[in-house]
Amino acid sequence: MSRLIRAVIDSGALRHNVEVIRARAPGARVMAVVKANAYGHGLVQTALALPNVDALAVARLEEGVRLRERGVRAPIVLLEGVFTREQLREAGRFELELVVHDALQVELLAAQPDAHRLALWIKIDTGMNRLGFRPEALRAAYERLRSLRPPLRDMRLMTHLAAADDPDGRMTREQLARFEAATRDIPGERSIANSAGIFGAVPVGGHWVRPGLALYGASPLPQRTAHELGLRSVMRLETSVIAVRRVPRGETVGYGANWRAERDARIAIVAAGYGDGVPRSLPNGTPVRVAGRRAPLVGRVSMDMIAVEVTAIDGVGVGTPVLLWGEDLPVEAVARAAGTIPYELLCGVSERVPLELA
Ligand SMILES: Cc1ncc(COP(=O)(O)O)c(C=O)c1O
Repeated sequence: MSRLIRAVIDSGALRHNVEVIRARAPGARVMAVVKANAYGHGLVQTALALPNVDALAVARLEEGVRLRERGVRAPIVLLEGVFTREQLREAGRFELELVVHDALQVELLAAQPDAHRLALWIKIDTGMNRLGFRPEALRAAYERLRSLRPPLRDMRLMTHLAAADDPDGRMTREQLARFEAATRDIPGERSIANSAGIFGAVPVGGHWVRPGLALYGASPLPQRTAHELGLRSVMRLETSVIAVRRVPRGETVGYGANWRAERDARIAIVAAGYGDGVPRSLPNGTPVRVAGRRAPLVGRVSMDMIAVEVTAIDGVGVGTPVLLWGEDLPVEAVARAAGTIPYELLCGVSERVPLELA
């Protein structure tokens, strides 16, 4: 048993989740969102483990180039597009598809003689107020793109949902109505749904779906578990016990002495800390699994270690396996304890944690 923390990536679970997503969005093509190092799962290995998707999406040019350099041949969409002439040329050289969300990008394309080779996604801001043309500005941007010679390839249309995880669905319905009104007489394929849009209360539709979180087996809906949605956890963040000690009643554990033993306790010291991406904000009582049994975190998370109370678990010693999150301990539960979201925990797994494909 290795004493080092590692993230085991279950490629079978990844492919299973794609099929679950396909069943929820019948007929739609799947653009797998692998930005931010595939939400911490490893950009290249995740892309290579996903032969059953129709396209990949990344945020930054460098991510797309890296995928191409490692032999990924699937369509790759740059969700933020490009911002300079040089980046535009680079995107063309690596055959990356571009999101166009701003007039500056339209003018970059207008100035690029071989822009017609690029596949484009025009992004419409239907209420997120982050990226995209506002509905009233869409027509001018679209006509300008359409006027370019040689003519551009098919232009596709997309928007991003701000609150698709809200069971009430009001904002999603408003965004859909704005999207429909703005794009009514513009031809081309549509893409709207992120994970919450695929599984959420309001049917979203579109020719393409863009799942991120659900691919990795975490639930995008606060009121539904991944298990209920049929999703399987892809990352197992596991480590092991490096020391066991007896802490007499009344003594404290860790920095700041913020946990005190109310009885004579047995404490396992575990190789995982904020240097690995385990948030320092995890409070006393956060669940951890030691030897397959749930046990509470006690004391502050330090850089390389956490402490777990194992008084009630027999046979814990150096090398006993510990699960921080995975199929038997949903990352959503740990995120709730940390006051954050699973996205942040998954993306936050640090570089020193080896990613092992299983
Ligand atoms: C434009 C766009 N589409 C899709 C996604 C995937 O979202 P999720 O991980 O919630 O499925 C993201 C992620 O932030 C995004 O920015």
